[in-house]
Amino acid sequence: NSSQTFVNDPETDFAVPENQERMQKALIAVRSELGLTVPIVIGGKRESSEETIDRADPSDTSRIASRMSCATRDQTERALVSAAAAFPAWRDTPPSERGALLRRTAQELEKRRFKIAAWQVYEVGKPWREADADIAEAIDFCVYYADEMERMTAPRRRDIPGEWNSYIYDGRGPAVIIAPWNFPLAILTGMAVAALVTGNPVILKPAEQSSRVGYFLMEALEAAGVPAGVANFLPGVGETIGPVLVSDPRVALIAFTGSKDVGLSIIKAAAETPPGQREIKRVIAELGGKNAIIIDEDADLDEAVLGVLASTTGFSGQKCSACSRVIVVGSAWEAFQSRLAEAVKSIRIGPAEDPATTMGPVVDEASRERVQKYIAIGKTEARLLAQANVPAHLEDAGNYVPAAVFYDCQPEGRLCREEIFGPVLAVLRAPNLDEALTMASDSPYALSGGFYSRSPANIERIRREFRVGNLYINRKITGALVDRQPFGGAAMSGVGSKAGGPDYLLQFVVPRTITESV
Ligand code: NAD
Ligand code: ALA
Repeated sequence: NSSQTFVNDPETDFAVPENQERMQKALIAVRSELGLTVPIVIGGKRESSEETIDRADPSDTSRIASRMSCATRDQTERALVSAAAAFPAWRDTPPSERGALLRRTAQELEKRRFKIAAWQVYEVGKPWREADADIAEAIDFCVYYADEMERMTAPRRRDIPGEWNSYIYDGRGPAVIIAPWNFPLAILTGMAVAALVTGNPVILKPAEQSSRVGYFLMEALEAAGVPAGVANFLPGVGETIGPVLVSDPRVALIAFTGSKDVGLSIIKAAAETPPGQREIKRVIAELGGKNAIIIDEDADLDEAVLGVLASTTGFSGQKCSACSRVIVVGSAWEAFQSRLAEAVKSIRIGPAEDPATTMGPVVDEASRERVQKYIAIGKTEARLLAQANVPAHLEDAGNYVPAAVFYDCQPEGRLCREEIFGPVLAVLRAPNLDEALTMASDSPYALSGGFYSRSPANIERIRREFRVGNLYINRKITGALVDRQPFGGAAMSGVGSKAGGPDYLLQFVVPRTITESV
């Protein structure tokens, strides 16, 4: 119950031997399940598909992690029928019951915590700690949005003699939830449970790279008692079924997290109003980033190096919030560059299942090729400061890439402007804070950003003038926590209120004012 203040679910401490043992056991158990087919769920019934896609384990591409059923056109149509049929009853289900579903879902995810983490290790190559944090965040979303729904539905009466006034929220209608693979449970869960708790049935469309992890949400919702048809699970090829879902007149709401190009295409398609469409579609779109950290002249460089490294190489740089540009002010450069170079060389690249790994592989061969392409671009546009070492025996075993840092980068160059989504860092130098701010803000994106400094005046200025969605001062720029750091960007980084924040659920509802003369 929500009368207490929200508290984030703690991450698992893998220094505790018992937790290490549980994770090792989960990894062994999951290894025996690899290759199983991930089903489709429509109206509470499991279905298969003739077409499937195999996902290789990113750490060891000789083995299949998951086999995704690809939903057909007919299955997509039936999922839409199922969600539309479920809408009136779900909208009219008391919000307290919907909130209770989310709380039970959180418990179901907690029960499966180590197993889901182990699946993240094999399906997307996420190292232990980051995999566990993703599940903690999913649990947080369930509990936080259940709390928020209680807050929103607390009676709001503005009665005067002779007139009663109330203000309530309804669900909007069937919601399509389109998720990325990099936070394979948390982001899918956050968008889905926000829709559910506000009274909207969902069609869950996980990313192709992470359908097995996404399926855990469907299983947890079912175990928590979601009515058939209120949640439908539709794995499939985004380019094929995505446009069908997005343009369907029965859909009232689309919650998307992913790349800028796909997000903008969805916004455009959703603006069409085909015959039979009742609602003007609401699109929530959280997109990419090209995030910068500014290092001030008087910054604590030991802290700055650690923060930059964690922000650039955490989950191999595959976070929308990752740092991909660093701007070093004035004389900080000499000491910073040598320490950063040493830190990059000390990264231990290895399989995600090895707890000693500090950076695992990237998610698939296409990502590996993209990162290698940008490293080649870096070598022509700029100068290589340092590169991590991919051990020879891993070179062709999985999708391993070296973390690479370039300096003398050109602000107009591709390295500084394009989202790479890998562990590649462009370092720029600025003579003063004015120019550093100009450089940092010179991007179509505005998602996260950081500043390391000991100067209160400079920190104050950055607070005012570095306009990004999530600004972090003297700490890493990834790892936002639900409620404590509501997360989301501005400009080309997205259109939506922050996930895990107090305005988020308002996007999923239709408010109604009811006045009665008495
Ligand atoms: P993506 O855009 O390729 O895919 C995201 C989802 O969209 C997948 O489920 C995919 O199947 C689906 N899709 C693909 N084409 C579609 C279409 N035409 N219509 C409808 N759906 C379609 O992104 P990705 O590679 O999964 O994720 C990486 C991107 O996501 C990066 O740009 C990253 O910055 C961004 N991201 C943003 C946030 C945020 O909160 N702002 C969080 C995580 C990731
Ligand atoms: N919410 C994720 C982070 O803050 C993307 O890193």
